[in-house]
Amino acid sequence: MMDIVEESAELWVFGYGSLIWRPVFQYEMRQAARLAGYARRFCQASHDHRGTPERPGRVVTLLPVPGSICHGMAFKLPESDRHKILEYLDHREQDGYERLYTPLHVGEGRTVPGLTWIARECNPSWRAGETLEEVARLIAESHGPSGANRDYLFELEQALDALNIPDPHVSELSERVRQLSCESWLSERFR
Ligand code: BEZ
Repeated sequence: MMDIVEESAELWVFGYGSLIWRPVFQYEMRQAARLAGYARRFCQASHDHRGTPERPGRVVTLLPVPGSICHGMAFKLPESDRHKILEYLDHREQDGYERLYTPLHVGEGRTVPGLTWIARECNPSWRAGETLEEVARLIAESHGPSGANRDYLFELEQALDALNIPDPHVSELSERVRQLSCESWLSERFR
């Protein structure tokens, strides 16, 4: 079997979460991209970035959903730094995420060899089955070493808006978190 990292002429990393607005490595080029068969969902607990072990936040992963398409951003890796960047991302995404090698559709329809990191159902931080209201509450209340969980959500919402990518899951969650923040501000002021 072909070793994609070693042998493919080009290699792209697919960003569907924080990578969209904060790419953390040098890339040669970036392009709007699509990953078929997956949907972006806030169903992974975050103990080390947007929450703590005592109060984990929620961050996105990709759920396999037949017929679905996840829109995001793909980054072409410089060949000389491939290994260094992939090792860096392995380390950063260690809270339950693993590599997924997959063809990506970039720009106007070119298919390129790619990979991304996803948290699968079998990992201990997997939290599928929570209602939108429960997830919104957890996001509204969680903070971690990388900042407030709500900022992660709002930055994702803004980045998707800027790219004209509609995502009802992200926009409905953002609305609920804004509403909860407003309610908690009012109750603190007027209790
Ligand atoms: C993301 O959040 O978009 C992401 C982060 C690291 C690797 C792949 C994707």
